[in-house]
Amino acid sequence: LAARPRVLDLTDERILITAGPTTTAIDAVRYITNHSTGRMGAAMAEEALRRGAVVDYVLGIDKGVVRPVAPRGAEGRLNLIEVRTAEEMAAAALEKLPLVQGVVASAAVMDYSVASPSASKLKRASDAIALDLVPSVDVLGALRQAAKDQWFLGFAAETDDVETHGKGKLEAKGLDFLFANEVAKLGVAGQTGFAVGTNAGVLLGKDGSRHELKLGSKAEIARQIWDRIA
Ligand code: CTP
Ligand code: CA
Repeated sequence: LAARPRVLDLTDERILITAGPTTTAIDAVRYITNHSTGRMGAAMAEEALRRGAVVDYVLGIDKGVVRPVAPRGAEGRLNLIEVRTAEEMAAAALEKLPLVQGVVASAAVMDYSVASPSASKLKRASDAIALDLVPSVDVLGALRQAAKDQWFLGFAAETDDVETHGKGKLEAKGLDFLFANEVAKLGVAGQTGFAVGTNAGVLLGKDGSRHELKLGSKAEIARQIWDRIA
């Protein structure tokens, strides 16, 4: 393999990245979340740092979540902010927004939150129970609303009609770019999407451009995404 020339095309750029899963508490000891590990976000951050950017990284924490590692020379350019809920993620991200030129929204935000979490541990009973869920804040939507002239890259992980849904989200959310990838259906092992080291998908641009990125490590996919948008 030929050595890749060192590109520093993101020097002087400051970028906000949301990543990982959010969680919503049911009670003092239980919560609901999703399968996100934050790996794609970490890969996006590491590549941005390698290219010279300053990164504000708002990470939903959960067991096993991957945190980005600043490559050599990029120490001090990674600001890691850990949050739990969608609301905390929105607040942290909105605070950083005025400082950045662009936003990478790779977080898997829980679309619903538990309406009234119990401060005490709920006790087991033999009856069925119902849990009231209310819509969570749309983190990317709130950022987009508050934006001045920042650019936006969104992500969409879909089980069906990946590109159609991706295109719809690119337009509906007013994004500059959207990376859409397939996630395996329940009970099926996949090579793209959640909790695997590889990914593949299509990068859509608001100008109608589309670039298919073939199966590769998430680091390789991140490199190709930044090649396109840097
Ligand atoms: N997103 C967000 N806050 C939410 C939901 C989504 O910031 N509450 C962001 C994600 O980080 C991603 C983009 O919006 O960049 C698309 O997320 P996705 O879950 O695919 O979109 P939804 O509109 O929630 O659609 P779906 O019903 O498919 O979940
Ligand atoms: Ca969603």
